[in-house]
Amino acid sequence: MHESKSSHPPRVVSGVQPTGNLHVGNYIGAIREFVRVQHEVESLFPIVDLHAITVWQDPERLKAQTREIAAAYLAAGIDPELSLIFHQSAVRQHTELAWLLQCVARIGWLNRMTQFKEKSGNNRERASVGLLTYPTLMAADILVYKGTLVPMGDDQRQHVEFARDVAARFNNDFSAPDFFPLPEPLVGQEGARIMSLRDGRMKMSKSDPSDLSRIVLTDDEDTIVRKIQKAKSDSKPLPMLVEELDGRPEAANLVSLYAALAQVTRQDVLTQFNNQGFSTFKPALAQLAVEQLAPITAEMRRYLAAPDFLEKILNTGAERARVIAETTMTEVRKIFGFIS
Ligand code: AQP
Repeated sequence: MHESKSSHPPRVVSGVQPTGNLHVGNYIGAIREFVRVQHEVESLFPIVDLHAITVWQDPERLKAQTREIAAAYLAAGIDPELSLIFHQSAVRQHTELAWLLQCVARIGWLNRMTQFKEKSGNNRERASVGLLTYPTLMAADILVYKGTLVPMGDDQRQHVEFARDVAARFNNDFSAPDFFPLPEPLVGQEGARIMSLRDGRMKMSKSDPSDLSRIVLTDDEDTIVRKIQKAKSDSKPLPMLVEELDGRPEAANLVSLYAALAQVTRQDVLTQFNNQGFSTFKPALAQLAVEQLAPITAEMRRYLAAPDFLEKILNTGAERARVIAETTMTEVRKIFGFIS
């Protein structure tokens, strides 16, 4: 377990956006880690609907997608008695702290965020203000619970660094040493960044226009097998050593996916499959993916058929989260000098 250097008790906070198409990268990079860590550390897993709306979301679909993440959490094994599962918008303290932290963070820090540059693309002037200030809301998501550890995929590392910078600046500006902990990222070894099945240099992403680029958690077995069969690869057999995957992004990605699903190292995978072509490796990968994901999909479907139950879980989680968040906010308001 990653040791926190802070004097704060360890607390895990991490979110997933309800933007649809929850994929195997989200599962391996985030959700599976959530399931593991909840047994070691008190954990909060907000479904970050306020982040999702930084790009346009159809309101009805947003609701359905929020329930879908809740279903995925439960199906994957997050225990709502042990961990708090809730929707971020139901705990208003997130947005309150986000505003206050916007007045602590510096514009230059936001301008360095690569995810804003990637997501806004050539259309930066037309991106929502929320897409730019997203990291301050994420910092608030973590700090409102004095979170110390953030399990996540590699792509979110820069945002956690940002949260640390904001926390340190707040502590310093208000001479409140150690008021906020400096949260640390918790990134898994293998599978921290699963790449697109169509382009091994691009991250597997919910918003990729190609459905073949990702395995989503609601895919049935035939679809998983078909997507892996169609995944881009190359004509060479698998090498003996991990270094020999350099310059072969698609081969490297499929090996990483296998390693992450089997929870072994990439070298273990190559030791097993070296000298074999993709006509052998892909069916083995498809079988593994089906074995690992089909039970989760089946459970997810069961939960999705009970929307009222899912909403009850979310609302109960939100009630418990609000208590913790309000304790922090009472202190924060006082530190800022607001009259109570
Ligand atoms: N490809 C990935 N490999 C490993 N981990 C990943 N994560 C995302 N993509 C991968 C991790 O999943 C968690 C939730 O992600 P998010 O919902 O906050 O959105 P994101 O990081 O922006 O992921 P997407 O899937 O690419 O969504 P869109 O297309 O909407 O931007 C995070 O911990 C993330 O690191």
